[in-house]
Amino acid sequence: MLNQQENERLTQVGAGTPMGELMRRYWHPVAATAELDDRPTKAVRILGEDLVLYKDKSGTLGLIERFCPHRRVDLSYGIPEEHGLRCMYHGWMMDETGQCIEQPFEETVHPDGRFKEKVKVAGYPVQEMGGLIFAYMGPQPAPFLPVWDPFQWDDAVHDVGITTLDCNWLQCMENSLDPVHVEWLHRFYTNYQQAISPDLMATMPPRIPHQEIGFDVFDHGIIKRRVLEGYTKESDDWKIGHPILFPQILYVGGFQSKTLQYRVPIDDTHTLHFIYYSWRVAPGQPVPKQERIPYKYVPHRDASGRYDTTFTVDQDKMAWETQGPVAKRYLERLGKSDVGIILYRRLLTEQMQIVADGGEPMNTFRSKEAAESINVPTEHMALGRDKVPRIKFIPLEAGISGAEDDIRYAVESWYVGETAKT
Ligand code: FES
Ligand SMILES: [Fe+2]
Repeated sequence: MLNQQENERLTQVGAGTPMGELMRRYWHPVAATAELDDRPTKAVRILGEDLVLYKDKSGTLGLIERFCPHRRVDLSYGIPEEHGLRCMYHGWMMDETGQCIEQPFEETVHPDGRFKEKVKVAGYPVQEMGGLIFAYMGPQPAPFLPVWDPFQWDDAVHDVGITTLDCNWLQCMENSLDPVHVEWLHRFYTNYQQAISPDLMATMPPRIPHQEIGFDVFDHGIIKRRVLEGYTKESDDWKIGHPILFPQILYVGGFQSKTLQYRVPIDDTHTLHFIYYSWRVAPGQPVPKQERIPYKYVPHRDASGRYDTTFTVDQDKMAWETQGPVAKRYLERLGKSDVGIILYRRLLTEQMQIVADGGEPMNTFRSKEAAESINVPTEHMALGRDKVPRIKFIPLEAGISGAEDDIRYAVESWYVGETAKT
């Protein structure tokens, strides 16, 4: 249990707060690349700051303050030009550093005036990788963007799911340090609902109770381990486990497919949740060519506000949001299932202090080589998959991105020649 002050310290992300300063030391996804192909500006709110992401006509990406420095209109309605984003109201133009580079009327009446040089708004570095656009909002120099291994898989189909959540980011992350919820929320509750068709359910690993859980801090975050009933500490679930990547990513999967779940704080009571999906095609099978990495905005509630809890991660979203905008940790009663959460809170606290003392927090990369050759352990065979003859594609979230046929093909490619087993 935390007191109210400790709860605020761990959850508040505005500039100048301890957690806000820690979070500003990391790259965060802010959009799918394809979003800017569909519309070249996107309003984003990250770490409590209102920003506009845009791609100009030369292909340069910018992330600058959302409200025009002249008279504060919303630049997500602005016009990307060859170099910069032009305000639609009186034509001022800003470049990707946030510097004002044109003021048409001012320049007409004062051709020698230097007003524009004195006008600058926030502008943050952005970088595209594998279908996502990442931003860095901390002090310079920025660390290198980490290239987790699914971003290097060119034999895979990729997909992006985005959800805007009405709750604080820490609720999402604490769920990732809580292995026991899997057998309940994702298995017992799934069985109770019977919302997935019986033939798909038959390919889903069964509910197996946890016997033991364990956690270790490592270079990139925390490894979580479990022993399920009928297994031993020789199984991958314990021996290898899988990580949360500090501070805001859950990394799951095995050799065939992986997901990175980024929990990006919008502000203290909202989270922008990205899942980066990667599904490998079996060796020797052709890999579908994706013209662009698709994306979907996940409809996790219906018109009446009721959660769609058919699929795994949408079940999590129901749990996260129903804890409230900021979970009242000062009322909670922690048990032995929560030791990973306690460890993670300690690690966050320790890393906030490192930043406050002027140091470099963990899992930041100061050499390009280190950022591109990261070795992260993940299970090869997770959570009772050996109990089912084959897996089928069951989405983790609602909605359609357009990648579904390619994903189904990638999943099925591992069973080519084995059709009789279905
Ligand atoms: S409000 Fe943007 S140019 Fe006037
Ligand atoms: Fe979960």
